[in-house]
Amino acid sequence: MRAVDLIEKKRDGGELAPEEIRWLVSSYVAGRVPDYQMAAFLMAVYFRGMTEEETVALTQAMAESGERIDLSSVPGVKVDKHSTGGVGDTVTLVLVPLMAAAGLVVAKLSGRSLGHTGGTIDKLEAIPGLRTELSLPEIRRQAERVGAVVADHTADVVPADRLLYELRDVTGTVPSLPLIAGSVLSKKLAGGADAIVLDVKCGDGAFMRTLEDARKLAETLVRVGNRLGKKFSALITAMDEPLGTAAGNALEVKGAIEVLRGSGPSDLRAVTLALGAELLLLTGEAKSAEEGERKLAALVDSGAAWAKFRELVAAQGGDVRAIEEPKLLPKAGEVVEVPSPASGYVEGLRAHPIGVACGLLGAGREVKGERVDPGAGVELLAKTGDEVERGQPLARLHVGRKDRVEAARALVLGAYRIGKERPAPRPLVLARVR
Ligand code: URA
Repeated sequence: MRAVDLIEKKRDGGELAPEEIRWLVSSYVAGRVPDYQMAAFLMAVYFRGMTEEETVALTQAMAESGERIDLSSVPGVKVDKHSTGGVGDTVTLVLVPLMAAAGLVVAKLSGRSLGHTGGTIDKLEAIPGLRTELSLPEIRRQAERVGAVVADHTADVVPADRLLYELRDVTGTVPSLPLIAGSVLSKKLAGGADAIVLDVKCGDGAFMRTLEDARKLAETLVRVGNRLGKKFSALITAMDEPLGTAAGNALEVKGAIEVLRGSGPSDLRAVTLALGAELLLLTGEAKSAEEGERKLAALVDSGAAWAKFRELVAAQGGDVRAIEEPKLLPKAGEVVEVPSPASGYVEGLRAHPIGVACGLLGAGREVKGERVDPGAGVELLAKTGDEVERGQPLARLHVGRKDRVEAARALVLGAYRIGKERPAPRPLVLARVR
């Protein structure tokens, strides 16, 4: 087979056979197909899409590109969670220890920032010393000892996603339904969980902007996931404005710590509890979503989830003092305030420009493999529904790249809509797909 023939077939709207997809993915991972051909193929998929059969084949080929995490020797019910990506979406840092505190086992493979969205691995690495490149025996040992582990997709597990993810990030090919499905599901397939909840983000800061597109993605993910032999459920959650009160790696770790310690942004806590309750329902640990949320809220309020997070950080070599005293987390060199141009109410706060500004300030990558600035990002001092005075700071820019401050300031200012009416609160969970 030749890569150029498969690129042309997809470019012209053809359907690839499973063995063609398998050949392309394995040849790319082996270094026999170069980045430029894979980038062209990804762009063809972006424009032409894939059938469900092709998406299943892509997911399987990616999952088979490396080893699988075998947790059969670890006692307990294994669960997992994945988000399709958002701004300020630091749910994983709260949910993983929370599920472990509930007696379930989570061994999660996560990614780095992608497009305008943040990545859990970059966030965790903002904690000094914390290692995310774990070997399979290390992942298994920590799952057994702590019940919670979050690792980068390694050279051993789903190497195809690691390579494709980096390439999509810098070639404008992220928001493609089959590519997102393959990326998310291959990691879940190679992971050792039996029950998985997917957080399909919907809105301005998500890859799926409309409820219709988000529903299509959620249904594809759940249908393809179930076909591949695991229990999946998805919540479609709002991503019109950022979740929490910050976007950026260390800033989001701080928000997660606050929620784990019983305070913090209420939207971040609410989405985390809703996803956790869905996992309790899937595994039979709760009879209703309300009962699940009550159980999990009690585990946050008792400090059990926070204790698990400390255990996870220590087990992965992180400096526990930095999470106990978040002022010890990395900081940007400069902080710049963005004042409100008018008095009134925040009628809307768009997540996408905040995510892009965050990347410009140093929290994201412009070329493959670039280092991110763990302290960079945007702190949101006012969110939708808040009353503000003219001149009052709406946001603080935590500056990692000085030459981008003006562009970031314009984006953040443009993200806010200030008006005379306090808008009605909007739901955080938009739909459930089982
Ligand atoms: N999360 C992933 O793991 N992959 C994607 O493509 C998007 C979100």
